[in-house]
Amino acid sequence: MGRTIYKSLPDMSLARKRVDAPLLIKEDIKVSERVRSFAQGKTYLIKTFGCQANVRDEEIMAGYLEIAGFVKSGDENAADIVIINTCAVRENAEEKVYGMIGSFKALSKNNPDFILGICGCMMQEVGVAEQIMKRYPFVNLIFGTHNVSKILDLVDEHLARHKDLVDVKSFSGDIVENLPSSRLDHCKAYVNITYGCDKFCTYCIVPYTRGRERSRSVEEIVNECRQLVEDGYQEITLLGQNVNSYGKDLKNGTSFAEILRKVAELGIPRLRFMTSHPWDFTDEMLDVIASYPNIMKCIHLPVQSGSSEVLRLMGRRYSREDYLDLVKRIKTKIPGCAITTDIIVGFPNETTEQFEETLTLCKEVVYDAAFTFIYSPRRGTPAASIADNVSSEEKHERFIRLTKVIEEGVIYHATQMVGKTYDVLVDGPSKKNSDLLSGYTESGKLVHFKGPAYLKGCIVSVKINESHTFSMIGELVDDPLIAFAKQAKKELLNEPALKAFIDAKEKLLADKELNELKKQIVSLQKQMTVALRDGEDSSYEEFKAAYLEAKEKYDTHPLVLNYLAYQEDAASLLEQAKEILS
Ligand code: 5AD
Ligand code: SF4
Repeated sequence: MGRTIYKSLPDMSLARKRVDAPLLIKEDIKVSERVRSFAQGKTYLIKTFGCQANVRDEEIMAGYLEIAGFVKSGDENAADIVIINTCAVRENAEEKVYGMIGSFKALSKNNPDFILGICGCMMQEVGVAEQIMKRYPFVNLIFGTHNVSKILDLVDEHLARHKDLVDVKSFSGDIVENLPSSRLDHCKAYVNITYGCDKFCTYCIVPYTRGRERSRSVEEIVNECRQLVEDGYQEITLLGQNVNSYGKDLKNGTSFAEILRKVAELGIPRLRFMTSHPWDFTDEMLDVIASYPNIMKCIHLPVQSGSSEVLRLMGRRYSREDYLDLVKRIKTKIPGCAITTDIIVGFPNETTEQFEETLTLCKEVVYDAAFTFIYSPRRGTPAASIADNVSSEEKHERFIRLTKVIEEGVIYHATQMVGKTYDVLVDGPSKKNSDLLSGYTESGKLVHFKGPAYLKGCIVSVKINESHTFSMIGELVDDPLIAFAKQAKKELLNEPALKAFIDAKEKLLADKELNELKKQIVSLQKQMTVALRDGEDSSYEEFKAAYLEAKEKYDTHPLVLNYLAYQEDAASLLEQAKEILS
């Protein structure tokens, strides 16, 4: 393609000054004729790095591309449009992105229609877009986290003007609703509840790349979740950089506890949420988590460091003692609750003693799992300008020591599970051994076990026989067919046609007038029988006329007609289900 047009470039310095309220945009999905005809017979591929927010963006971009007519590519080396969705949280994620961009050079050379787009958090960093355009002239589109919903407009402009485009917005961010989505999993779903972050931890780039903290409305979240329940999803994870800050910006008294309660009450079998910030984790939230059996007793609670001084320098707003106190409250209110965390080692000038405080904290909490990272300076964040006196070797040694302590905790929890039975949501065949199925327990432990493939998407009971550090081996306790039948029943009951039928029947049973008519019909039938037996012909005729009138009234009542119409739909659905099962 020709020259690059720089429509807009990011300015990270605007992040702290943000004051404007987010706009609520109800996206109207339009596909230009140009994009539609270009997409004919073409395939797309999206490569995502980083966290669940990026995974959700991938699903939304896939939604747009599919609406335009692109089909998901089954072959990594033959897609017509490739989008690389990047992460900026640590340097090593960025290095992988550069490697990947390079790997699409040949595809770009061999296919004149090929489009390579790069998006995501890394593009929100100052200077990155220009550097990519210089180093990789075959890149066609660069956009950021704030204009994911403009992907088709960018493709259209690229096709119309025959130019490569860079369009990275740098503002606080809006809330866009009515987004299309092609979900990657048909059993577990992510639902955004907040976007962005206002915490500005001194090491973290997220508040600069994803904008201010902004909450979606309760109604939008609940509607999205209700649809997922109706579609038969088994697990929803509510997503936000700090889920417990949910609603603060709405200033209408809404809170994360309320969202949790409302979504749990929709009846999703498993409800998770991430990430929680230890600073504003309320007792109300703990009470809600404790009281709903379908809210998984598993809390991801990043500690980052066990030293109060390091936490202060990180801008985390809690001390070691505050964190340990919260852990105690969790363990008291929700016995057996799994706790997982994120930890950074080697924050600038972290002393050996401060690092050892992280080790003692981990020994005290005994985490179920932890993601551990070596501090990575991010340009534009306050911590990046601190002169650091800890060598890279020292940081690596600390990292290895920390990993060992974490592993001890993980192994402790794993060993406790042996001999016990747990509910496991089956993901499908195990990635390492296709003879086995794999899935996760409530606490997020990976379990492998033998079972038939049709159990994918079912929640089954599995007895744990063996524990390894990061996974368990178990055996199916349920009869697989019964587990499958239970699941099929649940899914059938969620089918709109069956739901409408059940609803119509309930309305019919509750209607006073119809109940009265029914009683009359039964009593008139009895009177007809008695009159017939006693040879009272004229009474018989009278009762019969009254009976026919009542019956006509009943049979033509709108609630009865509705019931019969829905009954037809439900019967045809059940016929289909029977065919599938047989
Ligand atoms: N260096 C290392 N780890 C980081 N994280 C965020 N920023 C950095 C950084 N600059 C880690 C934190 C966070 C997780 C998502 O990534 O632990 O919780
Ligand atoms: Fe980054 Fe801190 Fe916000 Fe988490 S809370 S996204 S670590 S700034």
